[in-house]
Amino acid sequence: MERTLSIIKPDGVAKNIIGEVIKRFESAGIKIAAMKMIHLTKSQAQGFYAVHKERPFFDSLTDFMTSGPIVVMVLEGENVIAENRKIMGATNFKEAEEGTIRREYATDIEKNVVHGSDAPETAAFEISYFFNHLEIQSR
Ligand code: CMP
Repeated sequence: MERTLSIIKPDGVAKNIIGEVIKRFESAGIKIAAMKMIHLTKSQAQGFYAVHKERPFFDSLTDFMTSGPIVVMVLEGENVIAENRKIMGATNFKEAEEGTIRREYATDIEKNVVHGSDAPETAAFEISYFFNHLEIQSR
């Protein structure tokens, strides 16, 4: 069984589609193993996205991620890292497949509604960034 970190970003929370996003995960057989709503500080957002710190969009991205509350979740299931990425669609909503979350709800490459870990190592780092082991329920 694999785990991944999912974030509903400030634009997704503001659009009132928390339930819509969760419904897509649950409909695909993915289990929510942990969940909370938080409002990141700038330094917390910079820590989370540290791999992107040299990218030109880093400052704008970390400003955006602190612009409102987010929902962070641990998703669990078989092959869930790839499954989640399929459900989200490509980072750039213009390239995302029809029917994916980003294709339907994203408005630009930054405000793309959701985040999902891209590999097992990043999933381990990202899950531990937000949750300790007592907060994660395997079901
Ligand atoms: P995410 O999957 O959370 O990973 C990094 C984020 O940076 C990405 O989604 C977007 O929100 C944001 N971003 C902004 N501009 C770009 C870009 N040109 N390429 C990739 N990601 C970008």
